[in-house]
Amino acid sequence: MTTRDELLIHLEEAAGNWVSSKSLGDILGVSRSTVLGHISRLKKDSYPIEYIPHKGYALRETSDLLVPRRIREGLETKAFGKKEILYFTEIDSTNLKAKGLAASGAPEGTIVISERQTKGRGRKTRGWFSPPRDGIYLSLILRPNIAPRSAPSMTLLTAVAIAETLLAVPGLEIAIKWPNDILARGRKLAGILTEMSTIGERIDYAVVGLGLNVNTSRFPDEIEDRATSILIETGQRVRRVTLAKEYLKWHEEYYDVFQRIGFEPIRKRWKELTNMMGQQVTVETIGREYTGKVQDIDDGGALILRDETGGYHRVIFGDVTLR
Ligand code: BTN
Repeated sequence: MTTRDELLIHLEEAAGNWVSSKSLGDILGVSRSTVLGHISRLKKDSYPIEYIPHKGYALRETSDLLVPRRIREGLETKAFGKKEILYFTEIDSTNLKAKGLAASGAPEGTIVISERQTKGRGRKTRGWFSPPRDGIYLSLILRPNIAPRSAPSMTLLTAVAIAETLLAVPGLEIAIKWPNDILARGRKLAGILTEMSTIGERIDYAVVGLGLNVNTSRFPDEIEDRATSILIETGQRVRRVTLAKEYLKWHEEYYDVFQRIGFEPIRKRWKELTNMMGQQVTVETIGREYTGKVQDIDDGGALILRDETGGYHRVIFGDVTLR
């Protein structure tokens, strides 16, 4: 963790109390002028830090930072977010970090979260627009006891958890699009990047990365007509901390169902939350394209299409275009 992140977490943990630059320096083992340098940069990046002479610095309690203390406060989960939450003001990609941690043995339920990503990653070689403090960029480490062929089910389960979270936001209408999108009015509101590592015929770990556009007011020109945020859809800013906690709760709930009963209840809910059933679609996969009507998703989360000759196709990944 960088000194800047440690400093921010320390201010946050002081819970609105004033901390002097001297004591911050002592705690972090750096000089007072280093502390002042970091504070000035954080303020420049619009972190709500206040100063009173002779008292010191405090982070405004209403700030909507995704720091561990805020996430843990009233978090209704058993494991997700109850162990380690790694927090960053800036990182290349939370998925990359989480994969490194998982490979060195981090337990299920470990979370990596950042206020900003400099190399946010999407599916294939795409990026993920990750402006500071506007969205939720969160990766969760899972160790599901499933075969690699069932990996898409982890993405679908995540999509259901996000959809349940978003259904509680007033004025927001959403639909799931296979395999990893949550759409509002046909535009992308959230994306999921599931990456995994296998040992023989089993999954060693899966990292499920969520990118959710919450309070983003503008997107770059290249994606402006394809992307949206809760703010753009509803005209309201929403507290990211609340959404992140709700999402973790839903995700854990469905993950428990998955482990106790299996994929079937999730599959059923997924079908209620998508607008793809019965739709004519084209799916582009590596070197092949399938066109047909969406018939179903199977017990591994694959998309089942029926083409015009009556033939069935099972597709495990690809880009879908609704016709
Ligand atoms: C997609 O729709 O292509 C998937 C987007 C996933 C973005 C999230 S943001 C948090 C996590 N870290 C990353 O680098 N990517 C995922």
